[in-house]
This record gives sequence, C-alpha cells and structure tokens, in this order.
Amino acid sequence: MAQNSFASKIGFILAAAGSAIGLGAIWKFPYVTGTSGGGAFLLMFLAFTLLLGLPLLIGEFIVGRSTQKTALLAFKQLGHGRWTIIGYLGVIACFLLLSFYSVIGGWVLIYIGLGLSGTLSGRSPDEFGEVFGNVVSTPGIAVLGQFLFLLITLLIVLRGVEAGIERMSKILMPLLFISFLVLVVRSLTLDGAMEGVRFFLQPDFSALTGESVLFALGQAFFSLSLGVAAMLTYASYIKTKGTLNRSANMIVLLNIAVSLLAGLAIFPAVFASGLDPAEGPALLFVVLPAVFNQVPLGGFFMVLFFLLFAFASITSSIAMLEVVVAGVTDRLNEKKSSWTKKKVTVTAALLVFIVGVPSALSFGLLSDVQIWNGRTFFDTMDYLVSYILMPTGALLTSIFVGYVVDQRVLKDEIETSKPGVKLYPIWHALIRYVIPVTVAIVMVSTWITT
Ligand code: TRP
Repeated sequence: MAQNSFASKIGFILAAAGSAIGLGAIWKFPYVTGTSGGGAFLLMFLAFTLLLGLPLLIGEFIVGRSTQKTALLAFKQLGHGRWTIIGYLGVIACFLLLSFYSVIGGWVLIYIGLGLSGTLSGRSPDEFGEVFGNVVSTPGIAVLGQFLFLLITLLIVLRGVEAGIERMSKILMPLLFISFLVLVVRSLTLDGAMEGVRFFLQPDFSALTGESVLFALGQAFFSLSLGVAAMLTYASYIKTKGTLNRSANMIVLLNIAVSLLAGLAIFPAVFASGLDPAEGPALLFVVLPAVFNQVPLGGFFMVLFFLLFAFASITSSIAMLEVVVAGVTDRLNEKKSSWTKKKVTVTAALLVFIVGVPSALSFGLLSDVQIWNGRTFFDTMDYLVSYILMPTGALLTSIFVGYVVDQRVLKDEIETSKPGVKLYPIWHALIRYVIPVTVAIVMVSTWITT
C-alpha cells in the first residue's frame, strides 16, 4: 500500500488475502481443531465462516471503501464520534495480537534455520517433539526469533515496500498451495492415514468441549482478520465501487481452502505417526517435519515450505502493524502532534516487542507462571484477543453496519457489486440479526459455563 491506493482489483485481493492467510489458517486452525474434537469443530468453523465471517467481511469492506478512511475516522464519519470506540478496540487488539503472533512467526523463522542446518532430517516423531521443546523453551532462541520476525515486519512497513510484497504474493501464494498439495498427498498415503481423515472430516459431536463453540467462532474471525478494523483499513484504499462482494468471496474461499489443506496435511500424519492430535501449539512444528522426512528431497521441500509459511505470516503481521500505525497517526493528526509516521512505526514495533517478550518466554522460563484461569502469559494474550476482543469487535461492527450506517450507503456498495442485487436482503438480515445474536449467545454462554 505504498501509494495508499489500489490500482487494480487483484492488488486489493492479494493484499487482503495476504493479511487474512497466515498463522491463523495454517498453524492455529489445525492445533485448535485437534484440541477441540476434530470434525465437529471443522463443521462449526465452516458454518461460522460462511454465515458470520463472509457477511461481516463485506460489512467491514463497505465501511472502509465508502469512507476512504482508516478505522478511527471511518466510524466517526458514518456514525458518530462514540463509534470510534470500535476503531480503538481494533487498534489495541492488533497491537496485542502482534505481540504474540510474532512469537509463532519467530518459531517459523527458526525452523527455516533448523531445516537449512539439517537438524530436522532423519529423526523420529518423538525427537521432533524434543527439538521443538528445546527451541521454544530456550529463552535466547525464542526471543531472538520473535525479534527477527518483528524486525522484518518493521523494515517492510518503514520502507513502504508493501506493494512489492503484494506483487510477490502473486507467485508465492500459489507456491504455498503447491507445497501443501505435496504434503497432503504424502500425508494421505501414509499407513494409518485414514484414521486422521476421519478425525478431521467426520463430525463427532460428543468430542466437543465446553468452549469449542467459542473457539470455532473465534477461529472464523481470527483467520479472516475480522472485528479489529484491519479489513476495513485495507478497503479504505480501494477507489472504485463494484468489487467488494467478489473480493470477499474470493478471500473466504482461499481461507477455507488453506485451512482444509493444512488439516489434510497434518491430521493423517498425526495418526500415522502415533502422535496426539491434541498436542497444542506444537502440532504443526512436530508433525510436518515428520512428513517431510518421508518425501524425496524432503529437506529441500521443508525449507521451501517454512519460507513460504514465513512469507504468509509476514503479510499478516504487516497488516497488524499498519492498523496500529494508522490508528495512532490519525489520533496524533487530530492533536496536531509533530510525531512523524516513521517515529510512530518504530515506537509501536518496539512496544509490541517489549509487551511480547513474556509471551515468547511462556513456553520455557515462564511456563509455570499462570496469569488468568491457569493460562500462561501467551495463552492469556491469545484468549483475550481471539476470544474476547475480536468477537466483541465483530459484534459491535455488525451492530454498527446493521443499525447505524445509512442503508443507502450499504445498498449502493452492495448492489453495484455482483452478485449483489439479489443478495442484499439476505446479507442485511445476517448483519442485523444473525451475527449479533449468535456472537452474543456464544460469548455469554461461555462466560456462564466456564
Ligand atoms: N488472519 C490472520 C491470520 O490468520 C490473523 C489476524 C487476525 C490478522 N487479525 C488480524 C492479521 C488483523 C492482520 C490484521 O494469520
């Protein structure tokens, strides 16, 4: 977004899809599916994505596109000053999100190094568990990885080369797809793979835990970057009408496709190697090296995969930092502050790093320190952002779009965008009733029962 506008539709889709597809679909989705019961979770995730995620994505796009403004100002323009609260909430959520997202991004970078050095070849699944444990529990390594990940993100945003990054994603995203296909084929042909396919695709509602509905809802919003004013900010750079619906469809489709590929790459291999699907955050990092070890030229493909994975994660972290910087800059401009954008960007990244260090240490030094309901610092941050701030932001956004924004604006944006005319009433009902009611019920019932 160097020039702060998108010349082409494809430029916007690439940027928005780049921000959406990242650790959420590839790392988090399989791990939470594994800890939340498999197929039944997948089904809920798909339903939430299509019924709540897609309409809300269109809603956020409309707010950004029709105002051409970033979060704080967009809500003000379409509603009233008090709705800026959604913008602030989004800025805070993106800040906190980046502080722990960068921890996992750091692990991915470290795995590129491990792959290059040959540390990940010729080992048993148990040994991969040990390697992972050593990486994440050694303070110096975990913090260094996090630091590097944030540094790369910062440099890209500072140098204003996002447009170049987006162009690269035209080549790298398809490559990521292809490497996933290789993984899926190998994983599905392992002995005992079918059990994993069943776990992933066959709903077993008795396997659901109390919180899994909230987790599925959170995952749907998380992987589409919803409720934190991020998609809105991207859409504020689109100049022309008429592309929102299709762009949203495309992004949702890609996101589902990547999530399914990640699940199909991981679960068959989990069962074939006798691992535990409820392994938690380690899942991808323990399972995939085990699969690559059974692929010809596996060492090479593994490094390639982790490089592409890092790229996908960085296109997301760039978006988070940009939302924070845009929010703070808007606020400072209002106050006629003399802070330059560069100063804001560097300060934000530095603060994110400082706040994020305890998250990086949560898998070693601080693993016994419980912050909230038995959760480590990392888990507390994740819970706060993914299951409280994002759903709350989504709830408020849907109320804002459904009840506050002038319907003429909504109609105008949707009906000029194929296949909008017929879909408007359905979309409007989803935004007004289905999203707020579902999110409220899921959140409140989880608070009561846990
Ligand atoms: N969707 C991103 C992913 O799956 C994570 C994310 C959530 C995000 N909210 C965001 C990215 C806001 C950028 C901006 O990895």
